[in-house]
Amino acid sequence: MRTQVAIIGAGPAGLLLGQLLHKHGVDNVILENRSAEYVLGRIRAGVIEQGTADLLDQVGAAARMQSEGLVHDGTEICFGGARHRIDFRALTGKVVTVYGQTEITRDLMEKRTVAGAKTIYEATDVSLYDFDGAKPRVRYRKDGKQHEIECDFIAGCDGYHGVSRQSVPAKSIQSYERVYPFGWLGILSETPPVSEELIYVRHERGFALCSMRSPTRSRYYIQCSIEDDVEQWSDDCFWDELKRRLDEEAASTIVTGPSIEKSIAPLRSFVAEPMRFGSLFLAGDAAHIVPPTGAKGLNLAASDVHYLSEALVDFYQSRSAGALDRYSARALARVWKAERFSWWMTSLLHRLPGASPFEERMQLAELEYLVSSEAASRALAENYVGLPY
Ligand code: APR
Ligand code: PHB
Repeated sequence: MRTQVAIIGAGPAGLLLGQLLHKHGVDNVILENRSAEYVLGRIRAGVIEQGTADLLDQVGAAARMQSEGLVHDGTEICFGGARHRIDFRALTGKVVTVYGQTEITRDLMEKRTVAGAKTIYEATDVSLYDFDGAKPRVRYRKDGKQHEIECDFIAGCDGYHGVSRQSVPAKSIQSYERVYPFGWLGILSETPPVSEELIYVRHERGFALCSMRSPTRSRYYIQCSIEDDVEQWSDDCFWDELKRRLDEEAASTIVTGPSIEKSIAPLRSFVAEPMRFGSLFLAGDAAHIVPPTGAKGLNLAASDVHYLSEALVDFYQSRSAGALDRYSARALARVWKAERFSWWMTSLLHRLPGASPFEERMQLAELEYLVSSEAASRALAENYVGLPY
């Protein structure tokens, strides 16, 4: 088989790239080692920057998000038992949309099927060849048979554990990593959200987050030990611990119920540099991971594929490789700003094991400054709604 761009991974990065290229007539094939059902079964975050929403609109996959997504003009920061609102619209003129990443993946998959663009699910043993040479190729197994795709470029959109980054010689890649000494225990419940907007909580007992998927479905997280096992946390334990960390009003009004999903996620900051190796281009979680506190994971994957699709389309339209040569630096410039913001939100709002009483007071002093300074609130708001591309 031959295509112009072979895309590894049918997560949001791979699917969005595939549709952006399809829209501009660049032929591409997506290889995904799981089934579509499995990919759609993953519970992920759901805060969408305007830039990401615009890209989804460009490929005609925004209708359901626009009708079912919840537009949020702001968010709340809770500490010392009191909530403080950060008004995104007043401070930046921009807003965010709360709409599950799973729904975005479903919308993109449907759009791709309607467009007749090629996606090969359950393609196993994917391997990459000669991406440092003239004839990059990708091999995979499907239905017990070996297959090969010849292409001009390979887009590695296969996430942190994918084969693409692992195919790059160690000497050619520089990694930066911070693994946080705590996790997030999250539940999904068919209960009305406790508040209109998200509540980010800093509490002596640890971080908490009140989020939602719809007016009837809520998503809650609490900071937990990285050693914890999800089995040790009954729903009741979860709700009791969450209430202890919330302000009085939220704790007394929150509607609890059985969890329909419950899991623990580790927190990590990770960046691999560069994001291009010959004809191989990395995008999304394949190149970088942010802790979820800043809600940047999905939005960074989107800005990566915005830069990459522009560069690939430019190459096929003008045969100029200039934009391809600038892709890595351009994407990394935005990645590092989002890494800084996500690390800062994580350091500010979590109980840091081993922190001294002085360090704990510094966290509180920073929060007091944040909610009392328009400049500091605006800095948080402009990072949260998304820095310009
Ligand atoms: N071969 C083929 N496909 C693979 C391989 C492989 N060897 N390894 C992984 N994949 C697939 C995965 O099954 C997954 O569907 O690549 C896809 C990668 O998707 P994501 O992990 O969702 O990564 P990305 O598309 O970059 O999206 C980033 O996802 O994890 C969230 O917070 C993160 O929101 C961010 C977003
Ligand atoms: C979520 O809704 O799952 C969510 C929202 C905001 C975050 C992280 C997760 O920062």
